[in-house]
Amino acid sequence: MKAVEARQLVKVYRSRRKSTTALRGIDLDVSAGKLFSFLGRNGAGKTTFVKIASTLLMPTGGEISVLGHDVVNDPNSARKEIAVVPQGIRPYWHLTPKEHVFHYLRFRGVTREEAKSRTEWIIRDMGLEEFANTPALQLSGGLKQRTMVAMVLASTAPVLFLDEPTIGMDPMARRQVWRVIENIRSKGSTIFLTTHYLDEAERLSEELAVINNGEVLYKGDVAGMKAKVGADYRAILNRSTPHSLLEGYGKVMEDGGRLLVLSDRKGVMSLAEMASREGIEVSVGPVSLEEAFILLAGSDSRTWEEGEEDGF
Ligand SMILES: Nc1ncnc2c1ncn2[C@@H]1O[C@H](COP(=O)(O)OP(=O)(O)OP(=O)(O)O)[C@@H](O)[C@H]1O
Ligand SMILES: [Mg+2]
Repeated sequence: MKAVEARQLVKVYRSRRKSTTALRGIDLDVSAGKLFSFLGRNGAGKTTFVKIASTLLMPTGGEISVLGHDVVNDPNSARKEIAVVPQGIRPYWHLTPKEHVFHYLRFRGVTREEAKSRTEWIIRDMGLEEFANTPALQLSGGLKQRTMVAMVLASTAPVLFLDEPTIGMDPMARRQVWRVIENIRSKGSTIFLTTHYLDEAERLSEELAVINNGEVLYKGDVAGMKAKVGADYRAILNRSTPHSLLEGYGKVMEDGGRLLVLSDRKGVMSLAEMASREGIEVSVGPVSLEEAFILLAGSDSRTWEEGEEDGF
């Protein structure tokens, strides 16, 4: 059985003035027990999908189920299987991290004893011990977010929807959250993750999809998405590098004020040799998920060789 299954899911937000189509017939399958990343630019429709799947918003059309429960017709059964960190969630100012977790678990029907031990576990594993009894009012932004994520992860619900869970966290805190997420997944929960941190998605995802403007652009996994680039390696060079020097090494493109040359391992190695002869700085390595994402979903990156068919 699929953890999440969507068929031709449509969402149109209507107000008196205008209507916005956020989802244009999404077909999506998320395998149970996997970590699935849902990627896309701002406004692509990720949060809309998460809200519908987690019973917080009604779709305009199509079907969606969570672990076989129809989200629209039987939301109560679906709700028993899920927990969600909505985008932009805020803590209660006067409650401490410990109180957030404990009361949330009690609210979900967890026994007092179990709630106590799970609260201790998550506070420790999320690195919140030092702040366990501090009112949220006095916590930093990243610690507030960590509290909200801890609260929801402690549910160990069969399907966890995490909409940008690590936003605003420092690199160490993010890694701490990744470890807890991996621990919970290893116990059988499905994790449905949205994130703009592509290193995070690359590190954690077993399955992923990319949406753009309410449509699925890619479904598969990290390796499959990178393979779509049509090159395994890339070299990064300063924008001022003369283009004539780069001819013949691979596909050259602009990326945020630098130059990317996409090629195979041999190609980037010989480019690196040339660069060292010419005294040009270069950094070479495998194509990252972030680069693959920019190529797939970015409209402001462009290839120089117009009309070339390889890659996206
Ligand atoms: N309540 C709403 N009323 C009207 N339009 C909305 C509403 N919520 C979202 N939208 C629109 O729906 C589209 C999808 O928004 P959504 O929040 O799902 O994007 P997202 O992929 O989560 O983006 P982000 O990465 O910025 O969080 C956008 O065009 C947005 O403006
Ligand atoms: Mg969003």
